[in-house]
Amino acid sequence: MRERLGTRAAAGLVMLLLPPLRRLVRRSLGRAPSFSCCWPCQGPSPAPRGYSSSAGRKGLVLGVYAKEKEEEVPQFTNAGETFDRLVSGKLTELLSISGPPLKKGKTRLFHGLHQDFPSVVIVGLGKKAAGVNDQENWNEDKENIRTAVAVGCRQVQDLEVPCVEVDPCGDAQSAAEGAVLGLYEYNELKQKKKPVVTAQLHGSDGKEAWQKGVVFAEGQNLARYLMEAPANYITPMKFAEVIEQKLRSVNSNVKVHIRSKAWIEEQQMGAFLSVAKGSDEPPVFLEIHYSGSANANDSPLVFVGKGVTFDSGGISLKPSSGMDAMRADMGGAATVCSAIVTAATLNLPLNIIGLAPLCENMPSSRANKPGDVVRAKNGKTIQVDNTDAEGRLLLADALCYAHNFNARAIVNAATLTGAMDVALGSAATGVFTSSSWLWTHLYEASILTGDRVWRMPLFEHYTKQVTDCPLADLSNVGKYSRAGGACTAAAFLKEFVTVANWAHLDIAGVMSNKDEVPYLRKGMAGRPTRTLVEFATRLSQDKQSV
Ligand code: BES
Ligand code: ZN
Ligand code: ZN
Repeated sequence: MRERLGTRAAAGLVMLLLPPLRRLVRRSLGRAPSFSCCWPCQGPSPAPRGYSSSAGRKGLVLGVYAKEKEEEVPQFTNAGETFDRLVSGKLTELLSISGPPLKKGKTRLFHGLHQDFPSVVIVGLGKKAAGVNDQENWNEDKENIRTAVAVGCRQVQDLEVPCVEVDPCGDAQSAAEGAVLGLYEYNELKQKKKPVVTAQLHGSDGKEAWQKGVVFAEGQNLARYLMEAPANYITPMKFAEVIEQKLRSVNSNVKVHIRSKAWIEEQQMGAFLSVAKGSDEPPVFLEIHYSGSANANDSPLVFVGKGVTFDSGGISLKPSSGMDAMRADMGGAATVCSAIVTAATLNLPLNIIGLAPLCENMPSSRANKPGDVVRAKNGKTIQVDNTDAEGRLLLADALCYAHNFNARAIVNAATLTGAMDVALGSAATGVFTSSSWLWTHLYEASILTGDRVWRMPLFEHYTKQVTDCPLADLSNVGKYSRAGGACTAAAFLKEFVTVANWAHLDIAGVMSNKDEVPYLRKGMAGRPTRTLVEFATRLSQDKQSV
């Protein structure tokens, strides 16, 4: 068994050092986000004589609202107005002579306006104070800011300017999210990398909110990193080690257990093991504890994430085209663990436990065969009718284990079914829950983050389709296999849950981004990490225990 627990003495020392350590963490976070550039951002630079090198050059992103009426002049944000005054109204003048009013999410670039900022990008924020759009189920102002800032920052990046100051646009958290999410790109393995750009808050309005936005976005970027990385780099053990290292670096109130195959066997997690045995890569059951509550005995929020580091389908092999995307089939584990790292960075006052069964789903002579029957931790037998429906097998055992912690709520996330993608596409995560309390918290959180959720049914209708099984208590596919596939998968998981406050999030549809979310580049999306963090924040403020 491979466990890593601090000794009591070390824990005592850490408790003593905790306030200064926390301040240090906060300060270091304040200084530079993890994607910071090779050249430090410098203070006001001397007026450059023409283009020489990128060092010391700064970009500036400023927002402008759409006109309410045709005859009005476009209205800048506070920071935009201040800058316009600084350059004696030149910005207003240039904006009006350079083209039509800036549409939402569009940009215009000006050079040589001010010696501190050789490049200024004006971004269109749309209508001012648009508020919550109740058709779209999100806060339109926040989404507009994220998008505009992301587009503006990327334009600065294209100019190979190493540092960009960003207008808080009246909501510094959203501005920071737009900057940090918009600039992120996985290029760990390329020799030629895109220039790295550091985003900083312009001015001093909303410093704390900016910092919060940086932490939220970096949480999502951690999930994107884990999901995007090739499966030969992020194996089950490597995944666990990355999370352990991250978690320990942000907060000392954490415990990390990297459970071995022997431990998984002791736990009688027969369903999880049946998937793992098809691969030479050993499985890992990752268990992380973050104790943020003043009372260590407060019931925790338990997150569970599907951690299939590569899903080939097993003997029910997937088609080869697009199979590479199945390196992100650990997106559930990535998003829940990244959400816990983020919660720990923010010192959220609640206890959270994260559970991630991690393994590969591969074809081999030891792999599950269609028709095999396996036994889950709670004794239920499962007929494996399709070896590609492996996620629910891992989760069945992990959900049983999650019942050991007297949880306030159990929330699992999984790239579980292609059917979820067919149902909602990338618009929203599908949420299956019988708890309206949990649903409301998740839904309200998602309105703020813009990473939306949509409620799905847990009808008995679907349960019947997975319990009607020739050889075992349950089949791992619904009787009418394709119809309502996301719902039959959820009904299957429900058979392993006895608590009232449980929610299953099927994140298959939001796993990757083409161009649907404008502030995320193409690639693995890390969704819905920010919604999980916002949800945990809300739970930490809600004293209801059941
Ligand atoms: N990991 C897949 C689901 C998936 C598909 C995630 C596309 C992200 C994008 C899952 O393990 C799977 O293959 N499910 C099967 C279930 C079926 C055999 C009942 C599916 O959806 O086809
Ligand atoms: Zn599968
Ligand atoms: Zn899968």
